[in-house]
This record gives sequence, C-alpha cells and structure tokens, in this order.
Amino acid sequence: MTVLATTAATSPWKRGKVSMSEMVLPTHCGVVLLSHKQFVSLRAELNITGCDVTMPNQLPEPRAVSSVFHPEQDRADTANSLMLMQFGQFLDHDVTLTPEAEVEGDCCDVLAHPDPGCMSMPLNPADPFIAEHGLNCLEFKRSSAFCLDSSEVREQFNIITHYIDLSNIYGSEDDFACSLRSGMRGMLLSQDVGGQEYLPYASGTENLVSGDIRAIEMPGLTSMHTLFLREHNRIAEVINQYTEGLTDEEIYQETRRIMIGAFQNIVYREFLPAVIGSTRKSLRIKGKRTRYRSNSDVSIFNEFATAAYRFGHSLIQGTIHTR
Ligand code: HEM
Repeated sequence: MTVLATTAATSPWKRGKVSMSEMVLPTHCGVVLLSHKQFVSLRAELNITGCDVTMPNQLPEPRAVSSVFHPEQDRADTANSLMLMQFGQFLDHDVTLTPEAEVEGDCCDVLAHPDPGCMSMPLNPADPFIAEHGLNCLEFKRSSAFCLDSSEVREQFNIITHYIDLSNIYGSEDDFACSLRSGMRGMLLSQDVGGQEYLPYASGTENLVSGDIRAIEMPGLTSMHTLFLREHNRIAEVINQYTEGLTDEEIYQETRRIMIGAFQNIVYREFLPAVIGSTRKSLRIKGKRTRYRSNSDVSIFNEFATAAYRFGHSLIQGTIHTR
C-alpha cells in the first residue's frame, strides 16, 4: 500500500530555499495504519500482556458515570455558534479514525458472541433514557487490536494520517486520493446540482464521497466537506487563471498546500483558542512562518482519540435543525 505524502512534497518545483522533493517524509509516525501513542500504558504498568485480553473491570458502569456527571442538558452557548462543534468534528475526521473490531452480529447478544471484540454495557432499567427506548444493553465493540504477535501488549491504531493535513478532503492513501480528483486543472471531482458544486457520488453508487468515510455521517458535516471541496476548486481555478503551463498535478498540489495551510491556521488561531483559551504559549504561532520538522513525532495519543477529544460530543445540540 502506498501512503499518501502528508505534505505537498511530491511537487517537483522549489519553494523558497527548500526543495520540496528533498523533504524527508515521515515513515515512523503520522502515516496511516500506525499505532496511537500513549501517555500512560496501564496494561504495561500492570504487566498485562496478550493481544486478546481485557483489562480487569473494577470501574463503575460508564452510563452511570455519564448520567451523574453529564446529565442531558440543552444549554445554549452564548459565545460560540454550533460551528464550533461542527468544525471540531470535521477536524477530528482529519486526524483520528480508530477501527473497531470485526465482530459478527450484535455484541449485546453475549451468549451468542463471547467475542474478545465485544465489551457491551449492561444498563440500569431505572435510567430514564434507556427505559424510554426499551434497552437493557448498550452495544460496544472494542477498537481493533494492534499487535504484531499474540503475546504483545494490546495497542490501538489510526487508519488515517495523524497530521492536520485535510486527509478528510484529500484521502489518506494514494489510490483513494487519485479517485477523488478530476484529473484536469488541479480540480477535485464534484457534481453539479442546480448550478452549484456538490460532493460526487462514489463510483457505481448513490453515496456522496469525500476523503473520509464518515463524510456523510450527518448533514452539517457533509456541508463542511462541500465547503472545502468548493474552496479547493475555487483556488485551483484562480491558479489556472493566473499561471500558464502548469500541469494538473502541479495545480492540485499547490492548491492542496494552500488549503492545508489555511485549515491549520483556522485550527490554531481560531478553533483552539475558542476551545481552550488563547493564553497557552505552546499553542501560539510565532512569526509569519512555520517550519516542517521531519523528526517530530506527530502520532495521535490514544487518550486524545479515545477520551479527551470526544469532549466534542458534549457540544452537540440535543436537536439539530436542518432547515
Ligand atoms: C453530530 C455530531 C457527531 C456525531 C453524530 C458523532 C458520532 C460519532 C460516532 C458514531 C463515533 C464512533 C463511535 C465511537 O467510537 O464512539 C464518533 C467517534 C468520535 N468522535 Fe464524534 N460525533 C459527533 C461530533 C463530534 C465532535 C464535535 C467531536 C470533537 C470535537 C467528536 C470527536 C470524536 C472522536 C475523537 C471520536 C473517536 C474517533 C476515532 O478515533 O475513531 N465527535 N463520533
């Protein structure tokens, strides 16, 4: 499998003093199918090895914890619009996608499926939401294991690039990335509906497609994908108008580079300050330029993908009006 370069490093022409084609591309971290890193490996600390084992469960039921600490509340945010949530989900789909264990059937059917990929949660019948929906179990599939052999400590992994590189628009692997391109004038494939550009259909289907498989998970997210598709094609068109003799590949890579830079700026200058405040020195972008360092370990932390960044789920409005 060829892994898509996470910068526009495949472009042959020189930019400033650095030749893009001489840039060192990461192989040890950040690319697809590599494991998340961890702040703390409880398994290693407790000396629990073995790919199929589960941690001893001495913790309270997750649903009980949620109900006590995060009871359902629909509180309007007076400082931010719902775009904060929507941008947050879009950003997540650029950086983390932890695959689930492949399990046949329903994990709540424990007797039929004593599967190491299942860890469903029994529910308290007194829980009002649960009672309303007549459930007694929340189905839960574990993340797929990342172990080179069965005696190893179980890790989890990412099937998209860990970088903030708009892989949710461009794809994380070469073949898929190519399938999203029109092959002309640096443009991404799109479809025209009533004179407006929309996401194209995946070949032979009526499913809209973009660089990440979750693009049509909900309408607000699909709108973000549409917005970024249109912006890519708008910039590519401008480059076409003001340059001569550039190939489709050159215009595509240049547009992609501009798009990624713009996106990273929104993340660091607007989104993160809105979420965690603007006073953190470590997040400030110093000067006008940033530099790519091939030796930085950009791997996503397990704790970030699995817990911390899911804070965004508490930003979701109870009812989302689509018109
Ligand atoms: C309507 C909006 C959203 C819906 C319907 C939604 C739904 C989901 C679903 C179904 C999953 C996979 C199941 C799971 O692993 O729990 C998931 C995972 C996740 N979500 Fe959301 N989500 C939304 C918004 C957000 C937002 C706003 C954020 C962050 C700001 C976020 C962060 C995450 C993260 C970090 C994961 C784990 C990704 C992975 O590593 O695979 N989500 N979400």
